[in-house]
Amino acid sequence: MSHVEEVAARIVAIPDHPEPGVTFRDITPVFADPAALAAAVHHLTDVTRDLGVQRVIAAEARGFLLGPALALELGAGFLLARKPGKLPRDTLAVEYALEYGSDQLEVHADLLEPGTRVLVHDDLLATGGTAEALCRLVEDLGGEVVACSFLVELSALGGRARLAPHAVHSLVTYD
Ligand code: PRP
Ligand code: ADE
Repeated sequence: MSHVEEVAARIVAIPDHPEPGVTFRDITPVFADPAALAAAVHHLTDVTRDLGVQRVIAAEARGFLLGPALALELGAGFLLARKPGKLPRDTLAVEYALEYGSDQLEVHADLLEPGTRVLVHDDLLATGGTAEALCRLVEDLGGEVVACSFLVELSALGGRARLAPHAVHSLVTYD
């Protein structure tokens, strides 16, 4: 089985969750399966290995599932983007819209040197609001977004176009 098939076989679709009209893509079985978990990390690092990534940034909660594993595999550091009020030192904040609702993310402002090459990662690309907010945080701190990577892409929601001109790598895509 290919890496993509290994991961895709473990993703479960839940119709009308958390509200009517939304098909929720449950990735928890990918993390429960050793072969699928390894396939996910190897695929996403194979496609980003030549980008000179120095830091991976991801948002809580589900971005934290693979973010540090990708950073370790790429020889990079990991930056935590957290919900408001969680980080104890000076932060930079951005507000963003979700497929359902809106939220804010914060990052410790002193952890990114200008010019640092950053990979934006999340478990899933829907409208692109979360990843766009991460790109903004990186760029506001003077970093360079070298690509965005996702386990799952919901292509009908237009996230890829919203993130342009940044390169987008996703492992499993649903229309
Ligand atoms: C989910 C998911 C992505 C985001 C994708 O996070 O983990 O971060 O939505 O949607 P977007 O492309 O429209 O921004 P959620 O806010 O549900 O939080 P969680 O990770 O804490 O579950
Ligand atoms: N986050 C935002 N939209 C989602 C979806 N359809 N499935 C899983 N996680 C999501």
